[in-house]
Amino acid sequence: ATYTMVDQETCIACGACGATAPEIFDYNDEGIAFSILDANTGITEVSEDLEEDLEDAFDGCPTDSIKLAAEPFANIPVTAG
Ligand code: F3S
Repeated sequence: ATYTMVDQETCIACGACGATAPEIFDYNDEGIAFSILDANTGITEVSEDLEEDLEDAFDGCPTDSIKLAAEPFANIPVTAG
């Protein structure tokens, strides 16, 4: 299982992730990315058909702001902005 969320403290709004994985990432009014799967809470498992896009987005983020985990990010407070 894979879970994902964006570290909005380090995201520089480069815009790569939403282009690479539009079914996973979108941007708030300031261009900062968030996961649309679960309002960037990282508690919703990424479906298998999206995992390749997710990996590409992970590899393509210039600030390593896309976080991946095998378990839900249940205890990390981040908002979708
Ligand atoms: Fe931000 Fe990285 Fe996406 S900098 S806009 S999380 S590719």
